[in-house]
Amino acid sequence: MFVFKAAVVGAGTMGGEIAQVIAAADVPVVLKDVDQALVDTGLERARSVTERQLGKLVERGRLGEDAAAEQADAVLGRIRGTLGYDGFGDVDFVIEAVPERIEVKQAVFAELDAATPGHAILASNTSGLSIAEIGDATTRPEKVVGFHFFWPAATMRLIEVVEGDETAPETVQTAVNFAQAIRKQPIRCGECPGFVVNRILNALAGEYWRYQDESGVEVEAIDAYVTEHELGPMGPFRLSDMTGLDTSVKVARDLRDAYGDRMYVHQGMERLVEQGHLGRKTGRGFYEHG
Ligand SMILES: NC(=O)c1ccc[n+]([C@@H]2O[C@H](COP(=O)([O-])OP(=O)(O)OC[C@H]3O[C@@H](n4cnc5c(N)ncnc54)[C@H](O)[C@@H]3O)[C@@H](O)[C@H]2O)c1
Repeated sequence: MFVFKAAVVGAGTMGGEIAQVIAAADVPVVLKDVDQALVDTGLERARSVTERQLGKLVERGRLGEDAAAEQADAVLGRIRGTLGYDGFGDVDFVIEAVPERIEVKQAVFAELDAATPGHAILASNTSGLSIAEIGDATTRPEKVVGFHFFWPAATMRLIEVVEGDETAPETVQTAVNFAQAIRKQPIRCGECPGFVVNRILNALAGEYWRYQDESGVEVEAIDAYVTEHELGPMGPFRLSDMTGLDTSVKVARDLRDAYGDRMYVHQGMERLVEQGHLGRKTGRGFYEHG
């Protein structure tokens, strides 16, 4: 099946950039959130990514300034923000990017089941929840699939295409094709907590988190050590701030529940979340964000 039109539900840390990736690949996309300010933040994120990407081409002399402005308008013109499900009646592929809680995702999937045409594929950007359980909220579990981007979505090439118990082979194939059409590198994986990447990443980050809780060493020092020694592009605490501490804690708890003590939940991070400090999206986490 060819995807002529897509939709993204949730315009937060991931959703705005996911919509940008789709629009930059010439596919019109609807971007939905529950509040106009959140839709606007997602659209603004798409604008800044588009301008940065095209600006680089101008700097390298590969594109003129007028052509870049024209292309930016064309990309952004393909994204339509909305608060409702208007515009979902003719979509072929939906990517849900709402908070990592099964009851929230199931409610959204039940709504999507009613709002989209029967042929549409309903994909979830979940970091590790069960695709089968999400699919249970719909009348088309065979058309429900995991479609897991990585932060920052406009830059990171990988997408995990996750097959639930009831996902049909043709759904997986369409998801793989669509990932390639939006210039990403899909890998197929079966359903297990954390899928492939987060299972590995959290095992690694968990050791930094455990060490920090046990030693009391400043998080800034650990982050600086990681970047100075080129152990990663960003230290584990700054990375969690950027991706959202609520999401990081939720994923870490789910993985600890699934795999036991070899996974770790950082206590300082849990305290910050309890206080409402979720990292960049609220302006404060381990760091202050302007
Ligand atoms: N943050 C990351 O680095 C990252 C990476 C990969 C996958 N994910 C996954 O992507 C999903 C979204 O994560 P995020 O970090 O973008 O979360 P976020 O909290 O930044 O954004 C979620 C958005 O969904 C909106 N929302 C909630 N209910 C909605 C509804 N019914 N309809 C429309 N919008 C609704 C919220 O208002 C919010 O703007 C989660 O499942 C997460 O695990 C996150």
